[in-house]
Amino acid sequence: MSNDLESRIQAAVSNPQNLGEMTDADAIGTVGSADCGDMLRMWVKFKEQDGRKVIDKATFQTFGCQTAIAVASMATDLIRGKTAEEALAMSGEDLSAPLGPLPPMKIHCAQLVEGALKDALNPGEKSSSSPSSPTLFDQLNAPKTIKITLK
Ligand code: FES
Repeated sequence: MSNDLESRIQAAVSNPQNLGEMTDADAIGTVGSADCGDMLRMWVKFKEQDGRKVIDKATFQTFGCQTAIAVASMATDLIRGKTAEEALAMSGEDLSAPLGPLPPMKIHCAQLVEGALKDALNPGEKSSSSPSSPTLFDQLNAPKTIKITLK
C-alpha cells in the first residue's frame, strides 16, 4: 500500500467515527466476508428532512481489518443526509473514496461496508441480521441451532 493510503487509514483508525451499537436504529445490516472471514454490522437511523426520509446517523461495529474500520468510519459520515435509495446507489469504491484508491487485495474490505449498508437498507434481501443478537459480539457468541428434519 502507498504511504499516503497507509497514513489515511491510520488516521481514520486512530479516531474512528460512529463506532458502536445504536439501540434505537431503524435498520440493521450485517455481513461477513467470504474472502477473509471478517464481519461488519451497521445501524442506520432515519429522520424527515424537507419532506424526504434521509439518514440521520449510522454507526458500525466490526471484526475486520484496519481498512474496513477506516472505510466504515468514513462511509457512516458520507451517507448522512442521503435517502436510502441514494445510499444504496453507492458502491464500495464510492464509500471508500475519501481514502483514495484501494489496492486490489483491499477492495473486498470496502465491499464489506457496502454489503452491511445494503443489508440494512434493502429489506427485500435481508440476510443475517437478527434483533435477538443486538451486537456483533453477541451474534458471534450466540449458540448455534441446527435443525434436523426427519422424513
Ligand atoms: Fe477482511 Fe479487510 S481483510 S475486511
